[in-house]
Amino acid sequence: MSDSMMTVERFIAEQERLHPDATGTFTDVLLQLSLAAKIIARSVTKAGLVDIVGASGAKNVHGETVQKLDEYADDVIVEVVGKGGSVCGIVSEESERITTIPETYEAGPYVIAIDPLDGSSNIDVNISVGTIFSIHRKRSAGRDAQDSDALQPGAEQCAAGYVHYGSSTMMVFTTGAGVHAFTLDPSIGEFLLSHRNMKIPSPGKRIYSVNEGYTNKWTSGQQRLVERFRTGTGEEGSFSARYVGSMVADFHRTMLQGGIFMYPGTADAPRGKLRMLYEVAPMAMICEQAGGLASDGRNRILDIQPRELHERVPAYIGSPGLVELAERYLLED
Ligand code: AHG
Ligand code: MN
Ligand code: MN
Repeated sequence: MSDSMMTVERFIAEQERLHPDATGTFTDVLLQLSLAAKIIARSVTKAGLVDIVGASGAKNVHGETVQKLDEYADDVIVEVVGKGGSVCGIVSEESERITTIPETYEAGPYVIAIDPLDGSSNIDVNISVGTIFSIHRKRSAGRDAQDSDALQPGAEQCAAGYVHYGSSTMMVFTTGAGVHAFTLDPSIGEFLLSHRNMKIPSPGKRIYSVNEGYTNKWTSGQQRLVERFRTGTGEEGSFSARYVGSMVADFHRTMLQGGIFMYPGTADAPRGKLRMLYEVAPMAMICEQAGGLASDGRNRILDIQPRELHERVPAYIGSPGLVELAERYLLED
């Protein structure tokens, strides 16, 4: 079958067939996430119409209250995946606690962590946003997920992925056997295989991606690292700077072109801004599966044991040589 006709459903089913003990439940989680992504994509592309049909909190022409898009995206995933019989808990950026499954629905053996809408402040200016997800297998006994089921090191993820709502909508994920990307063909409503077995270019383009507005709040190692990139004085030569401000978009470019994406700690926020469970750990798994590296500046992200559902972690993700270079500078702090 040609890749251009390989739907995400078929691809996942074929992967699952390689595992004779598989029950299909894991496939269900991914398929439900891909359905949720299509529903969210439909709303993201209409977001500009909010000005026409009514702003958040206001009533639209149908008399319905218009929700903020990140809350809407959260509701869609909770509805589609949470009630689909394959998960027993959802950790979301939008909810302080883990959401368990009402008794009237079946609870499955997986726990997901989600950033339903990443880069949401970019929605108002029509810049790309995304959804990030991570899937763990439940470890605790009993029907409902416990926090400990989500608080596993990234290396234990069964799968991780993101959806990029850009000039086209793409779903990129790994189940631990390479990274594959699917592009939504809106005319048939299907995600079709567009990038099989993605590899991050190494050395790749020399691009650094970081919010330089925080320079004065960085550690000296971080300042010197970016100074090296900015002035092109290292042996790698000169660099370009790119920063969208949506992690999914910045990371997606890094996956395709190479470079390094950074969200360092600052004097005010030593752990940075990004969250381990539903932003950094999933991207770290994807990046490593594509041949890249992901570090908090000192440690491999995937080895870190998270302690809290919404804990933050500094992030250095991208082409291996550049992540190693960052670690060398940060060691000096
Ligand atoms: P979210 O919209 O889910 O809160 O995430 C926004 C994040 C991430 O997408 C991006 O990399 C980062 O915020 C940008 O933060 P700064 O504006 O501080 O650079
Ligand atoms: Mn985010
Ligand atoms: Mn978000």
